Amino acid sequence: MKLLSALPLLCNIPSLAIADHQSTIFSKRSTVSNPENYVDVFTGTEGGGNVFPGLARPFGMVKLGVDVIDSSSGNAYSGYAPDGKISGISMMHESGTGGAPQYGVVAQLPYTDDIDFATELTLDRQSADSGSVGQYQVNFTNGVNVELAAADRSGIYHYSFPSNASAKILVNGSHHLSSPLRPWWSQYSVNGSIEANDDLSQYKGSHTLKGGWGEQSDWTIYYCGDFDTKPTSVTSYQGTNVNENNGESSSTKQDDSFGLVFEFDKSEIKLRVGISFISSDQACSNIKNDFGNDYDTDQTIKDSISKWNDEVFSKFEINTNNNDTLTDIFYSALYGSHLLPSNRTGEAPSWNSDEVYYDDFFTLWDTFRCLNPLFNLINPTRGGEIVQAMTNIYNHDGYTPDGRSANQNGRTQGGSNSDIVMADAYVKNIDGIDWDNAYQAMKKNAEVQPPYKYDQFAPDASNQDGRGALPDWLDLGYVTRKYTRSVTRTMEYSYDDYSLSVVAKGLGNSDDHEKYLKRSAGWQHIWNKDASTSKFDYTGFVQPKQENGSWADDNYDPLSCGGCYWGDDEYEAQTDNDSSANIYEDDDGYSYSIYDSKVKKESRGLEDYFPLVNHDSKSDDTDDFSDDVFTNRQFTDSNTINTDATIHEDQEDEDKANS
Ligand SMILES: *[C@@H]1O[C@H](CO)[C@@H](O)[C@H](O)[C@H]1NC(C)=O
Ligand SMILES: *[C@@H]1O[C@H](CO)[C@@H](O)[C@H](O)[C@H]1NC(C)=O
Ligand SMILES: *[C@@H]1O[C@H](CO)[C@@H](O)[C@H](O)[C@H]1NC(C)=O
Ligand SMILES: *[C@@H]1O[C@H](CO)[C@@H](O)[C@H](O)[C@H]1NC(C)=O
Ligand SMILES: *[C@@H]1O[C@H](CO)[C@@H](O)[C@H](O)[C@H]1NC(C)=O
Ligand SMILES: *[C@@H]1O[C@H](CO)[C@@H](O)[C@H](O)[C@H]1NC(C)=O
Ligand SMILES: *[C@@H]1O[C@H](CO)[C@@H](O)[C@H](O)[C@H]1NC(C)=O
Ligand SMILES: *[C@@H]1O[C@H](CO)[C@@H](O)[C@H](O)[C@H]1NC(C)=O
Repeated sequence: MKLLSALPLLCNIPSLAIADHQSTIFSKRSTVSNPENYVDVFTGTEGGGNVFPGLARPFGMVKLGVDVIDSSSGNAYSGYAPDGKISGISMMHESGTGGAPQYGVVAQLPYTDDIDFATELTLDRQSADSGSVGQYQVNFTNGVNVELAAADRSGIYHYSFPSNASAKILVNGSHHLSSPLRPWWSQYSVNGSIEANDDLSQYKGSHTLKGGWGEQSDWTIYYCGDFDTKPTSVTSYQGTNVNENNGESSSTKQDDSFGLVFEFDKSEIKLRVGISFISSDQACSNIKNDFGNDYDTDQTIKDSISKWNDEVFSKFEINTNNNDTLTDIFYSALYGSHLLPSNRTGEAPSWNSDEVYYDDFFTLWDTFRCLNPLFNLINPTRGGEIVQAMTNIYNHDGYTPDGRSANQNGRTQGGSNSDIVMADAYVKNIDGIDWDNAYQAMKKNAEVQPPYKYDQFAPDASNQDGRGALPDWLDLGYVTRKYTRSVTRTMEYSYDDYSLSVVAKGLGNSDDHEKYLKRSAGWQHIWNKDASTSKFDYTGFVQPKQENGSWADDNYDPLSCGGCYWGDDEYEAQTDNDSSANIYEDDDGYSYSIYDSKVKKESRGLEDYFPLVNHDSKSDDTDDFSDDVFTNRQFTDSNTINTDATIHEDQEDEDKANS
């Protein structure tokens, strides 16, 4: 099999592995009862994993959890850290991300003593937070215990104050996560306002922010809060101005502190908070849609557990030989992989309609290989919505996302890898996607250079949308060092164009099919068959080229990506040079490694897999390029997955299949 022709299959390897796994290893599989009990929501929260342990429905818009000033680094990407003071309990978070902390907005904290509004209120925890699917609890040293529950677009805070202390809730209108480690990517407050109604049973507000890792321009979150117990008084603050018996506060100054404090004569207080990107009225209706008139935490927790079971856990039967550790790992990983992207259908401020919308693609360049193909297998309804959402983002914002949060595209790392996710959905015959429209979106990535946006780490071209280094790619068939990340971009643009060729073929567009198939061989322009490294007895590596087309030898080491960052030849392409990790075996039983001489002796060269293009001419030389392995949508047609009883289709999909 020619390796290039196998690219869509490589893309599917994680999925195939799952199918295989289940038919072999999990042969004595069964349904696990109460799989939610095996989920440890704190899995992956430490050591740089940055998983969000708080409350979320699968792909839910609300991610309700604590915001901690991490005691070691200050940065808490998901809001959570095991050690450090809590500065808020807020409605929105990302999960598993790096870059810089995002969100941590629409926050509040309970307190008992008087505070100085000029100083940030922070609280210490009495004990470690407790969390499980659908529920989260925090107990503070001030004696206040908090139990949280969340639905899709709103959540419930249940405060238990000590009976002998006063009970106050600070609704911090300017709260957000910041980035002490990387201040240049910190979010900051632009403005905002909050107002309580006359009888103090409800408050509404908005908060506009800016900045963050995607260097977002102004975006606004609206909110609504409903108390089950009427406060006895409200106090407003803005900077150092404090006004008792005043239910309004606002600010237009950058990172100015403003908000309201509600005080109660009871010790058990519940409130529901809804969020919206459209209006505070919509935030209030989101509460009504989620909860009706109830403030029922127990029921909300039960509903969350059923949502997780119905949509995610019930798709699998497993056999772990009664090893609970394996069961824990399996369900914890499954849980953690269904938090992003966030379903924001009906909440897209730039188009405000019911057209499907998802945000928090953070980031597709990490998830296109395994996670998105997994969604397309176990959850085609979501998979279809995610691809249609990327298409709608193209329709309204101009380009599909690569990284996206706060309703704005940015950043892109290498290529436009939404192309690959789209092609994966195409070959799997996922429903709910307007393919002519989706293909237009792919073509724009492949043909139209995105508008320039300055980036201090890579000022050469846009890192916001599409493919910044497109001029080289269109002129030369590869990307030169005129652009940063020229090797990464060349490799990824090749794969992306291959994805276009696949969809073009299926849509009956044979000209485009051939054109993009040829373009997908562009990476071979930077394949230097003579490149070598002193460490291993092997030649042949990708190597950057200068603008004049000659090989770049300075700062070039085939085994290292140098700084491996935005301004380098490769982004994080450091090779794991531990030889045992780099041995691959192909279908014919040949093993090969490009890093280990022992293996190389019995290996075949890359030339045996690829019809290499002539490096001295442009990429028209790919006539003998074979694409016979690809049969349109062969993956779905072969029914590998659908006949495997270990993956339970949505009932809805079963009905469809049977009709
Ligand atoms: C509100 O949050 C912001 C930022 O997250 C912080 O700077 C400010 O001090 C907080 N205000 C209070 C009263 O805690
Ligand atoms: C908080 O306190 C409550 C009541 O005392 C207790 O049931 C719960 O386990 C505590 N939670 C944590 C996280 O310590
Ligand atoms: C409230 O009661 C607790 C426990 O009985 C005690 O530790 C605390 O000091 C009291 N607080 C106040 C403000 O009286
Ligand atoms: C906040 O800023 C946004 C955009 O910069 C503006 O549209 C909005 O009116 C401002 N809101 C307030 C309350 O000042
Ligand atoms: C269960 O699986 C884990 C992870 O593979 C392994 O470390 C452990 O030894 C296993 N436990 C038993 C009792 O087999
Ligand atoms: C996404 O959200 C919309 C609006 O709430 C909802 O109608 C749709 O069913 C959700 N998608 C899935 C797959 O649950
Ligand atoms: C190409 O450019 C590099 C530096 O940019 C230079 O060192 C080299 O001599 C040039 N080669 C040719 C053939 O012009
Ligand atoms: C290979 O791995 C070793 C040990 O992990 C490391 O020290 C070395 O820098 C790596 N790179 C090369 C080019 O050997």
